[in-house]
Amino acid sequence: MADDPTDQQEPKLRKLQNPTGIHDILPDDHEYYTFIKKVVRHRCRQAGFRRITTPILEFTDVFERGIGGATDIVDKEMYTFLDKGDRSVTLKPEGTAGVIRSYLQHGMKELPQPVELYYIEPHFRYDRPQKGRYRQFWQFGVEVIGEKDPALDAQVIDLAYRINEDLGIAHLFSIQLNNIGCGKCRTKYKEDLVNFYIGKERSLCSDCQNRLEKNPLRLLDCKKEDCQILAELAPKFEQYRCPECQDFHAKLKEFLDELGIKYVDNPRIVRGLDYYVGTVFEFWDTNQGAQNAIGGGGRYDGLAELMGGQPTPGVGFAAGIERIIANMKRENVKVPSKDDIHIFVAQLGDDAKKKCLPLMNKLRDRGIKTVGALGKGSMKAQLRLADKFNVPYTLIMGITEVREGVVIVRDMSKGQQRPVPIEEIVEEVVKLIGEENLDKYSPGEAIY
Ligand code: HAM
Repeated sequence: MADDPTDQQEPKLRKLQNPTGIHDILPDDHEYYTFIKKVVRHRCRQAGFRRITTPILEFTDVFERGIGGATDIVDKEMYTFLDKGDRSVTLKPEGTAGVIRSYLQHGMKELPQPVELYYIEPHFRYDRPQKGRYRQFWQFGVEVIGEKDPALDAQVIDLAYRINEDLGIAHLFSIQLNNIGCGKCRTKYKEDLVNFYIGKERSLCSDCQNRLEKNPLRLLDCKKEDCQILAELAPKFEQYRCPECQDFHAKLKEFLDELGIKYVDNPRIVRGLDYYVGTVFEFWDTNQGAQNAIGGGGRYDGLAELMGGQPTPGVGFAAGIERIIANMKRENVKVPSKDDIHIFVAQLGDDAKKKCLPLMNKLRDRGIKTVGALGKGSMKAQLRLADKFNVPYTLIMGITEVREGVVIVRDMSKGQQRPVPIEEIVEEVVKLIGEENLDKYSPGEAIY
C-alpha cells in the first residue's frame, strides 16, 4: 500500500513487520479480549442470542448493495481485490451486511422470528490510522432480524449498555439517540436540506461537497468546524418526521425510561452507513463527543430488500473492542489473568525426564497449569526459569528421586522443600494450589 513507509524500501532489506494500522494482539492484551468476549457471550446468551460467524471475505456487492456506494466505507475504505477467478471480493468492513446475506441465503425466515444473533470478529477498513482507528479492528455486535417494534430497539440499546456496565466503562459514555425517519418522511427532508445548502457549498469541506449530491444527511454529522456551524442552522428533521416514525420514537424513549437508560435526543446523529432507517444511536465519549464513539447501531428495515430478499425489518449495534480496551485501561479496570502458572517441573537426566513427561500431563488434566524446562541443562538454570514464571511451587526430580519413587516439592517463597511419593503428588499439589484455583477444562457434554 502506497502510504506504508516500509513500501519505500528494497524488499530484501525491509524489516518484516505488520502493515500500518494492522496489529498483533500480544498475550497481555489477549487477557482483555478474553474477558470482553466472555462478557459478551454471557450477556447475549442470557438474552437468547445465538452466535454467528460470517466469512472474513465476501463478494464485494454484499457491501456495495448493503452499506451503500455513497458511504465513506464503500467509497474509500474497503479492502477490495480480484480473486484468482477475477471475482471482486472484499474483506468485511462491518458485520451487518454479511449477517443479512446469511439470513437470506439460509432461509432463516423459516425460524421463529425475530432471529437474534451476535458476533465477535475482526473487520477491515482502509481508514487513516490514528488513535482508536485501525485498519484491522475487532467488533462485537448483535442483530435482531424479522420483527419491528420499538421494544426490540430498546432491548438492543439495553444489552449494549449492560455489556458496557459489566466492562466497567458505561459511565464514560452517553447514548446519543435519533430517529432519521422512513423513506416517506426522509424524501422531503433531503430535498429541503439540499436546498438549504445551495449557495453555501464553498463553506463546506470537500467531503461534504461530495456528500451534498450523494448522501446529504451525512452533512449533519461532519466533524469539521465550518460544516458543524452550518449543520446547526440547517432544517431539523424533527419537523419532517411522519406520525408513524414520531410514534415509534416516542415509544422507544418510553421503553428506555422504563429500563432506566439515560439518553440524549440528538437530531444530528445520522450514522455513516446507508442502510439505516428510523432509530439510530451512538455511544459517545462524554469528554470527546463523537470522536472515537465506542459503538453504534440502529434499524435497517430496508436492508434485506436491497440485498434481493423479502422486506425484513432488523435492528442491531456493534462496538469496537480496541476502543473498549483503551477505555478499560484508562479507567484502570483490571481483568483476571488466566495465564499464571501453578507448577514448574524441573528434572535432571533422561530417566527423570521420562517420569516427568506423563506426570506433567496428569497435573494438567487435573487443572494444574504446569510448565517444564525440558530443554534446559543445569538445575540452577531451571530454577532460575521457575523464578521467572513466578510459580508458587516447583517439582524437582533427579536420579535419586526416580530411584526412590518420590518428587521433591519446593515452596518457592519459603525456599523449603520436601519429598512426596510420586503416586500422591497430583493430589498433594491440588491441596497446595486449592481446588477452587484449578484451571478446570472439560470438553463438555459431547456424545462420542
Ligand atoms: P460502525 O459505527 O461503523 O457501525 O462501527 C461500530 C464501532 O466499531 C464503532 O463505534 C467503533 O467503536 C468501531 N470501529 C469502527 N471503525 C473502526 C476503526 N477503523 N478502528 C477501530 N474501531 C472501529 C457498524 O459497523 C454497524 N454494522 C453497526 C450495526 C450493527 N448497526 C446495526 N447493526
